[in-house]
Amino acid sequence: MIKINDLTFKPFLSETKILEQIKSLSQKIEKDYRDKAPLLICVLKGSFMFTSEIVRNFNFDYEIAFVRVKSYDGTKSASEVKEFYGLDSDLKDRHIIILEDIVETGFTTHYLIGKMESEKPASIEIATLLFKPKQLKYSDLPIKYVGFDISNEFVVGFGLDYNEKGRNLRDIYQLNSDLS
Ligand code: IMP
Ligand code: MG
Repeated sequence: MIKINDLTFKPFLSETKILEQIKSLSQKIEKDYRDKAPLLICVLKGSFMFTSEIVRNFNFDYEIAFVRVKSYDGTKSASEVKEFYGLDSDLKDRHIIILEDIVETGFTTHYLIGKMESEKPASIEIATLLFKPKQLKYSDLPIKYVGFDISNEFVVGFGLDYNEKGRNLRDIYQLNSDLS
């Protein structure tokens, strides 16, 4: 058990299990994109660890860009974007892979795809480490690669934060709702 501010979290996914799963995602992506020189879009801040681990396993040409989309507050998804910047690459005719730490309602990725589509990329697909399928509100999202389907409980670690804390944890922890 660990405590972050007012909340208690229990161990959920070990670093070993996470890295194993990312390796298998990397292999799938490489197989599909090997000849496409894709543009990877890392959605900051949460996806920085997932992104670095994904590309460490790659053996082909790709480019990488970083965007910042902030919509989450505390442990609740918000349906407005509070901060957005970084989309300065030329997207026309590019094959784009959005790298997310977690897709919950899908609002963040839906927003990002809306911003990208006007530049006419060749394709857009999403790779996400975690996915909360029961929370999804945008059912038309191109979610192609998923590390783990998880339940609705809030999680931290491996890049994911609770009000900016817990990103550094090597394993992923889940909110201990038994205590609340
Ligand atoms: P969505 O817009 O509802 O799909 O939520 C996506 C964003 O909210 C992610 O990029 C995360 O930054 C954040 N988020 C969603 N669920 C969690 C969670 O359980 N822990 C930490 N951050 C989360
Ligand atoms: Mg995020």
